[in-house]
Amino acid sequence: MTDHLTVVTHPLVQHKLTLMRDKETSTAGFRQLLREISQLLAYEITRELPTESRTIETPLCPMDAPVLAGKKLALISILRAGNGLLDGVLELIPSARVGFVGLYRDEKTLKPVQYYFKVPADLQDRLVIAVDPMLATGNSSVAAIDLLKQAGATDIRFMCLLAAPEGVARMKEAHPDVPIVTAAIDDHLNEHGYIVPGLGDAGDRMFGTK
Ligand code: URA
Repeated sequence: MTDHLTVVTHPLVQHKLTLMRDKETSTAGFRQLLREISQLLAYEITRELPTESRTIETPLCPMDAPVLAGKKLALISILRAGNGLLDGVLELIPSARVGFVGLYRDEKTLKPVQYYFKVPADLQDRLVIAVDPMLATGNSSVAAIDLLKQAGATDIRFMCLLAAPEGVARMKEAHPDVPIVTAAIDDHLNEHGYIVPGLGDAGDRMFGTK
């Protein structure tokens, strides 16, 4: 991927996103839509994966046919909301390896602090797709990608559902080599760090918490 930012304007994605934004959408509905939309975003983010040729036999004749090349890719969920994007992507790419990055915000310094980090081996040889539905301030996404780079990752992409202009700018400044795929860029962040108009707290909406 060469573009730093891809907004997936496909009508199916936009329709599902509108349903997710609607505050009347139930937890079950939100989760199902997130799963569906994650697959459409995954389709976009994997569009240029390298393939190689494998000789197989169809019922009619032998043929050389394309299969994905290289090591299995690594999907990294940024906890906790990233988990909402995982299952759908794993359905499409069942052999992907999976990792988790947990960060919380220190109340005094307001900086992200790591509380969990478990990722597949050989990150340097894999395409790494980090997932988090909301790219808001960008602080946790930037910190998560810092950690992935420290662990050896060199080919990283970031998939989210919604982004704020502030988060996109922060990511571009800190990690210009990491392409972002999102379904929309909203207007702004409010004083509480929520994306406006947004969809609220993605974790709460998918897990039914408050
Ligand atoms: N995280 C969320 O879940 N929602 C926002 O609007 C911003 C960050």
